[in-house]
Amino acid sequence: MNVVRESLFWYVGVKRWVGVLFYCLVANVPLELVVMEEEIDIKKVARQHLEMDKFFAGDFAIKSEEGRLEEQNLQVEAGEAVREMERIASEVRACRRCPLGDLRTNAVPGESKVQVLIAFVGEAPGADENAQGRPFVGRAGKLLDKIIAAMGLKREEVFIGNILKCRPPENRDPRPEEIVKCMPFTQEQLEIIKPEIIVALGAHAARTLLDTNKPIGQLRGKFHDYYPGALAKPIKLMATYHTAYLLRNYSEASRRAVWEDMQQVLTELGLPIPEHGRK
Ligand code: URA
Repeated sequence: MNVVRESLFWYVGVKRWVGVLFYCLVANVPLELVVMEEEIDIKKVARQHLEMDKFFAGDFAIKSEEGRLEEQNLQVEAGEAVREMERIASEVRACRRCPLGDLRTNAVPGESKVQVLIAFVGEAPGADENAQGRPFVGRAGKLLDKIIAAMGLKREEVFIGNILKCRPPENRDPRPEEIVKCMPFTQEQLEIIKPEIIVALGAHAARTLLDTNKPIGQLRGKFHDYYPGALAKPIKLMATYHTAYLLRNYSEASRRAVWEDMQQVLTELGLPIPEHGRK
């Protein structure tokens, strides 16, 4: 038993020192600095080093003229994008392209900053969204917030919108003629914010964006291409179950399926998969 325990201690010790040496080599940190700490926390040292790097390369570093111009251009583009998104939102609020416009309390154009990595697109506003004019604020929305948080992101960091911008009575399914009238708003929004990835929540969003009739069970779990315009390059789209469906079928299997889809999204974006979100 002792032999096993001692071998284990040896193994752990050797592994740890290989880690220390590797870190010193990669981060170009003198070995003595790391060894000085009696209880070495490699992750902590690495994190501090990264934070220092970010500090110096971020706000503090002196930017070249080219860098400054590029930054100015980005700011101008972002300003234009904000104005364009506001224009679309005002058009949505004034829209009477279909009868839903006369039935709504509030239209729900969608919410986001203009530069986002992920756009979540749902089906249509429900009662809470219709009352507040904001997307995904009811029970299904609270669950979406939890999913976004489990991904290590904040709601304000993503786009959240819907295929239909007004609530269908009694939350019935969107009708094809309503989708046809409303889709140009969503298409324009996606063209402006240019997300890296679109997450289509549920069958209606996935089928509409992908122009297919396939069931969500067949569409989810893999990446598809969404074409924002004839000449624009495709945007990757991950289809997954709608959070309202999850609430109705709150099983281990359905939650795991959505989490696996979101893990694929994070991996595609090169983002870490938070431990607390893992099953
Ligand atoms: N369901 C949706 O599809 N969208 C919302 O905004 C809320 C619930």
